Amino acid sequence: SGPTVAVVGATGAVGVELMNVLAGRDFPYRSLKLLASRRSAGKHVLFEDHEYVIEELNEESFKDVDIALFSAGGSISKKFGPLAAEQGSIVIDNSSAFRMDDGVPLVIPEVNVDAMAHIKLRNKKGALIANPNCSTIICLMAVTPLHRYAKVSRMVVSTYQAASGAGAAAMAELELQTREVLEGRKPTCNIFSRQYAFNLFSHNTSVKENGYNEEEMKMVNETKKIWNDPEVKVTATCIRVPIMRAHSESINLQFQNPLNENTAREILGKADGVVVIDDRAANNFPTPIEVSSKDAVAVGRIRQDISQEGCYGLDLFACGDQIRKGAALNAVQIAEHLL
Ligand code: A2P
Repeated sequence: SGPTVAVVGATGAVGVELMNVLAGRDFPYRSLKLLASRRSAGKHVLFEDHEYVIEELNEESFKDVDIALFSAGGSISKKFGPLAAEQGSIVIDNSSAFRMDDGVPLVIPEVNVDAMAHIKLRNKKGALIANPNCSTIICLMAVTPLHRYAKVSRMVVSTYQAASGAGAAAMAELELQTREVLEGRKPTCNIFSRQYAFNLFSHNTSVKENGYNEEEMKMVNETKKIWNDPEVKVTATCIRVPIMRAHSESINLQFQNPLNENTAREILGKADGVVVIDDRAANNFPTPIEVSSKDAVAVGRIRQDISQEGCYGLDLFACGDQIRKGAALNAVQIAEHLL
């Protein structure tokens, strides 16, 4: 029978979706343990005809847990991830805590599943596997099929990121602020320091000495690791927009080998986990609303970059659900590869 599974952060935006995805894909767990903070301990949750009680996360939580899905923030992962791995659990971590560590595979199953080939459930040996940043996942789902064909030499990305990346409380704040602004009241700013509804702002992660914020540097560094290509040039600008749960990205590519837009459209049309929405006549292209709660990353605006000579440049626009493919779905797909 299947593995024993624990969800760490089961009450959060990603935690709840992890459970939806496990159920939706008939993941064959033998037992499920739901872990969160003391605030949630004791709460009852009905899931797949079974009543669960949320337990408080502690050092003893991982005894007999085969797969631990972590989504309770970086500090919880840092503290409990290695501990769970030492106790024999395979940790699939949604935070940025271990992503750039040597020896920790950083995996998008459609892109680089080989990176985790040495980790086996039946060995009963613990391990850490990192889920990439949500913007990186959505970007590389759209770009890797083209990279395989023509090798990307430089990528310029601009993101339009949803509230969900900052957790359930940020989504609630966007909803509350929208109501408040429509009613002529002053918007409540707890999660972000400024008005979010009817506004947009540079990503809330801290800005480094080089002028890039942490989210942007995650896209740069994680792309190099996932593609195993330290030479690829990547630059990013990450922006929060008042959208609930799907990220959008404008992506400009420069290739080493020629790739024309028709071939690109064909390649993306056959790529796993990607749908092409690219109807110029109807001006119909991907939107964050239509990918919300969906698995696939939508790609459109596929066009030759007219600023580059010949067929060496392309522009794309991609949208993907941040909680699903950007987090929960990707983590469950990793778990499926362990089975
Ligand atoms: P809780 O609801 O008990 O606070 P989100 O990303 O949506 O903000 O969710 C964060 C998740 O991480 C929640 O499930 C939250 O549980 C959990 N979490 C936060 N702090 C802790 C902690 N100290 N121990 C265990 N889980 C935590």
